[in-house]
Amino acid sequence: MSGPNTNYDPVEVAALDPATVDAALEAALAAVAEANSLEQLKALRPAHQGDKSPLALANREIGALPPSAKAEAGKRVGQARGRVSQAFSARQSELEAERDARILIEEAVDVTAPVARRPLGRRHPIELMSQRIADLFVGMGWEVAEGPEVEAEWFNFDALNFDADHPARQMQDTFYVEPADTGLVMRTHTSPVQARAMLERGVPLYIAAIGRVFRTDELDATHMPAFHQVEGLAVDEGITMAHLKGTLDRLATELFGEGVTTRLRPSFFPFTEPSAEMDLRCFVCLGKDPNCRTCKGTGWIEWGGCGMVNRNVLTAVGVDPDRYTGFAFGMGIDRALMFRTGVSDMREMIEGDVRFDAQFGMEI
Ligand code: PHE
Repeated sequence: MSGPNTNYDPVEVAALDPATVDAALEAALAAVAEANSLEQLKALRPAHQGDKSPLALANREIGALPPSAKAEAGKRVGQARGRVSQAFSARQSELEAERDARILIEEAVDVTAPVARRPLGRRHPIELMSQRIADLFVGMGWEVAEGPEVEAEWFNFDALNFDADHPARQMQDTFYVEPADTGLVMRTHTSPVQARAMLERGVPLYIAAIGRVFRTDELDATHMPAFHQVEGLAVDEGITMAHLKGTLDRLATELFGEGVTTRLRPSFFPFTEPSAEMDLRCFVCLGKDPNCRTCKGTGWIEWGGCGMVNRNVLTAVGVDPDRYTGFAFGMGIDRALMFRTGVSDMREMIEGDVRFDAQFGMEI
């Protein structure tokens, strides 16, 4: 571009020619309209609005015009520059609005989406199984009975016909409460609830007692110093061992499924006569797989003890043994849970790892 026009000849100031100004304006408007992104728009600015753009140059030429021509040319160039700048800012706003709308969609965060930041607690599987067993007995018309975990030695042993020198009374099995003359023990089984219930409620009586019991066993994969039992006691006129067997089969089916029955093997407990060990039909192979790993091919799994309530126990709590008979049973709930879940190490049940509860603590 030449320097300022000193001839005052408008014709020579080509940059101010209306057609040139219009062309520059049109070119700028067209370019702005075609810009599809803020980056493109920014890149266009020097060519159409910058110091060296045609309209900026034209603007600079105005000073060289004769005063009579200045006003008109100034107006023309000013308006053109105004429109270009308006077009830029209008397009800028449009493109910014488009970008914001796009970001809102692309980076949208659904604040209502559920998150597991506070996982729901689960009930412990032992608790659930206890509940399930209680429900079964309540459904059969039985009552749920309870007794203390710190129990009188008399209820835990004497009332249950344990001889004074029965090995289970010795220190290796029983946690005695100090000092020794308190006459208190940590109950070693749920059977003391039998004596308590008969004294408190009288007979006939149908009760299930579920709770924690304690023995001085070392903690290992199959033993725990504190574990859980379910005790059943039915005392009425004409109760026989057939009632016992039927009740146990019902419980086994409820907990382990159809086809799972029980078997009784002769045994001894001071408080039942006759007494039996109770085995459970293997709920995995139902006794059909000689290589079954659960029952080691025997078809049976040991589960607990049972029998007909000993006359001496009935007498100890004031029940006439010539009129009433009864059956009783006691099984380990922790063992039953091992069977059900396939957990092979009991310690997992008491370690309090929330993943254990989460896996086995919900039943649908
Ligand atoms: N109380 C016995 C035990 O813990 C089980 C049992 C209960 C046996 C009731 C007979 C009758 O081993």
